[in-house]
Amino acid sequence: MNIAVLGAGAIGSFFGGMLSKKNNVTLIGRKEHIQKIKNHGLQINGKTRLKRKINAVEHVYELNQSPELLIITVKSFDTFEAITQAREIIGKKTVVLSFQNGLNNIDQIKKVIAQNQIIAGITTHGVQLVKPGLIHHKGIGLTVIGELSEEKTKRIHHLASLFNDAGITVSISDHINEDIWKKAIVNANINPLTAILNCENGYLAKNPILTTMIHKITKESTEIAKKKGFSFNTEEMIEQTMQVIGQTKQNNSSMLQSIRQGKSTEINEINGAIAKIGRVYGCDVELNDLLTKMIKTMHPTYL
Ligand SMILES: NC(=O)c1ccc[n+]([C@@H]2O[C@H](COP(=O)([O-])OP(=O)(O)OC[C@H]3O[C@@H](n4cnc5c(N)ncnc54)[C@H](OP(=O)(O)O)[C@@H]3O)[C@@H](O)[C@H]2O)c1
Repeated sequence: MNIAVLGAGAIGSFFGGMLSKKNNVTLIGRKEHIQKIKNHGLQINGKTRLKRKINAVEHVYELNQSPELLIITVKSFDTFEAITQAREIIGKKTVVLSFQNGLNNIDQIKKVIAQNQIIAGITTHGVQLVKPGLIHHKGIGLTVIGELSEEKTKRIHHLASLFNDAGITVSISDHINEDIWKKAIVNANINPLTAILNCENGYLAKNPILTTMIHKITKESTEIAKKKGFSFNTEEMIEQTMQVIGQTKQNNSSMLQSIRQGKSTEINEINGAIAKIGRVYGCDVELNDLLTKMIKTMHPTYL
C-alpha cells in the first residue's frame, strides 16, 4: 500500500518504519530528522530493532501522488494546520488515520476531510525520538483502530491486517469513541501530575495523597464522559489508570518530556478539552481546569 505519515516524530516514525517493511511509506517531518533519514536511513532501537532506508520529505506537497493511507501523528495542537496542509494531496480514496492523544483530533480532521474517509486509532506503545534519525521503542503497548461509525467494515479489517503483517499488533475496537475518552481520562491524570511533580509515572502510585487526587480527577472526568453518553464508571477508570501507572512506572510522561524540553504540551486537548465539555453540561470541572492552568503556567508561550 502507498502510505504517508504526517508528523514523523516518535510514534509516526515508529509506525512508518515498521510499515515500510511491506509497503511504500513516506515519512513527512521536520528538517533535521528527515535529512538524517535521507542520508543514513531510519534507526529504531529498544524493544524493536530496525534500520531501514525509507522515503522522507519535509513538506506534504513533495508527495507525488495521493497516498492510499495518510497516518496523522502530529501532536494534537498541530492537527488542524497539518491536515489543512495535506488537503491538496488527499484523494477521494485516501483514508486518514489518526493515532493521536486528546479529544479534539477527529473533530479537527473532520473540518477538512469527509467523515467517511477518517479512521481513529489509539496506541499505548511508548516511543521517543532520541535524536534525528533515531527512535527508541521504550515500551510495547496495545494498538486499536476503528471506524467512527464503529462498524466492522472490510477496510478496517484490511488496515488491521496491514499493521499486523508489518509486525505491529493491531486489533479492531468495538467502541473506538469510548476508547479515545478512556485514554484521555488516564492521560488527564498521569500527564499533568507527573509534569507538575517532575516525576516518573510510578511515583503517582507510591503516595496516598496522589492516589486520592487520582480518584478525584478520575471521578470528575468520568462524570463528564457520562454526560457524553459513555457508560464506563469511575472505579473502572481508576483501575485502568493505576494499571497504566504500574505498567509504565519507569516512564517519563510525554507532558513531562515536553515541559523539560520547553515545548508545548497537549494539556488543552486533554484536561482542557474535558473541562470545556464539562462546562457545556454544567458539570464540576474544577480539577481538570486547575491542572490545565497549572501546566500553562509552566510553559513560557502560554504566559
Ligand atoms: N510517543 C509516544 O510514545 C506516543 C504514544 C501514544 C500516543 N502518542 C500521541 O501521538 C501524537 C504524536 O506524538 P509523538 O510523541 O510522536 O510527537 P512528536 O515526537 O512531537 O512527533 C510529531 C512530529 O510532527 C512534527 N510536525 C508537526 N507539524 C507538522 C507538519 N505540519 N508537517 C510535518 N511535521 C510536523 C513535529 O515537529 P515539531 O515538534 O518541530 O513541531 C514532530 O516532529 C501525540 O498526540 C501523542 O500524544 C504518542
